[in-house]
Amino acid sequence: MSTPRARILGLGTFVPARTVTNHDLAEVMETSHDWIVERSGIEERHWVDAEEGNYTMGVKAARAALADAGVDASEIDCIVYATLSPDYFFPGCGVLVQRELGIGHVPAFDIRQQCSGFIYGLQMADVFIRAGQYRKILVIGGEVHSRGLDKTTRGRTVSVLFGDAAGAAVVGVSDDPEAGILITRVHSDGSDAECLAMQYPGMAAGRDSYVTHDDVESGRIFPNMEGQKVFKNAVKRMPEVIQEVLDAQGLTVADIDMLIPHQANLRINEMVAKQIGIDASRVHNNIQKYGNTTAATIPLCLSEARAEGKVKKGDLVCLVAFGSGFTWGSVLMRW
Ligand code: COA
Repeated sequence: MSTPRARILGLGTFVPARTVTNHDLAEVMETSHDWIVERSGIEERHWVDAEEGNYTMGVKAARAALADAGVDASEIDCIVYATLSPDYFFPGCGVLVQRELGIGHVPAFDIRQQCSGFIYGLQMADVFIRAGQYRKILVIGGEVHSRGLDKTTRGRTVSVLFGDAAGAAVVGVSDDPEAGILITRVHSDGSDAECLAMQYPGMAAGRDSYVTHDDVESGRIFPNMEGQKVFKNAVKRMPEVIQEVLDAQGLTVADIDMLIPHQANLRINEMVAKQIGIDASRVHNNIQKYGNTTAATIPLCLSEARAEGKVKKGDLVCLVAFGSGFTWGSVLMRW
C-alpha cells in the first residue's frame, strides 16, 4: 500500500470585530501612524472584546474550516493547537476545542513554536497522516496578544506590532494524487531564546514565586524583543529554508506560484522576496490589516489569498515562517 499524502481539505479564520488603528494607538502612547507604517507596514489590527478569548476564536475558525472541508467534527481524530497566548497556563487550548466541538476522546496537542507554530503543526499533521496514525486533523493557530501587551510608551516597540486572530486547517488524506503537502522542514536555534520572549510569569530557576508584585509593577510581565536581531535572523532563515524545501523537491523559486510568508513585518517579507528573487505579484501579504497574529498569520494569509483567486488548483504554494525561539520552517504544497 502506498503512503497516503496529506492535504489541506479546508481553511477557516476568525478575526475579532474591533479594529484598532495606528491613530487609536497614538492616543494612548507616543507613536504615530507614519512610524508604524514605515517600519512595519501595519495600518491596523484587531483586538478582542471582553467576551472573546483564545480558544473561543479557535473554535470559530475550526468550525469554518470544517464547513469549508465538508467534514463533520466527529470525523476529526486529532487536534493540534499552536499558540503562545493560551487561555490558561494549563490545560492547553486543544482540549477546550475538543470539548466545545464535542469531538470524541481524540489526542489534543498544544504546541509552543510562536510565529512558526502553524508550520510546525502542519508538519505534525503531515507526518501523522503519512504514517497512517490519523486521517483528519484540525490544526489551529490562535492568539490573544492584546491582553498581554504594554499599551504605554514603555512598550510601544512591541505593542504596535501585534493583533488577535485565529486560523484553522482541516488536514486529511488527499484523494488527489497530485495535490497535497510535498515536503515540510522545521528548525530551531535556542541561542537567542530570550531576545524575543515573555519570561514572566514563569517557573525559572531563582524565582520565589511564578509571579510577584514587582514583576507586574516593573513591566517584566510584558514581552521583550530585540527587534533588530529578530529582523536580521528572519531575513536570513526564511530564504534559507525556502531554498531547502525547493532543493529537496528538485524545484526552483521560479516554480512557486504563491509564497505565503509569516506576517511579522512587511519590510522583512519584502527583503525575503528580493533575496530569493520572486516578484511581489507571487507573494501574498495582509499584515497591513491584521498586524502580527503569530500562529494565526499563515492560515489567515493563505485563506485570503485563496479567496482572492491567488491560490488555485494545481498551484505550487510555499509557506514560510520565522519567530521566537528562534524557530523557523517551510511547507511546500501542491494546491
Ligand atoms: N513609535 C514611535 N517610535 C518608536 C516606536 C513606536 N512604536 N517604537 C520604538 N520607537 C523609537 C525607539 O524608541 C527609537 O528611538 P530612539 O532612536 O530615540 O532611541 C527609534 O524608534 C528606533 O527604534 P528601533 O527599535 O531601533 O527601531 P527599528 O528600526 O529596529 O524598528 C521594529 C523596530 C520593531 C519595527 C523592527 O526592529 C522590527 O520589525 N523587528 C522585527 C520584529 C518582529 O518581526 N518581531 C516578531 C518576529 S516573529
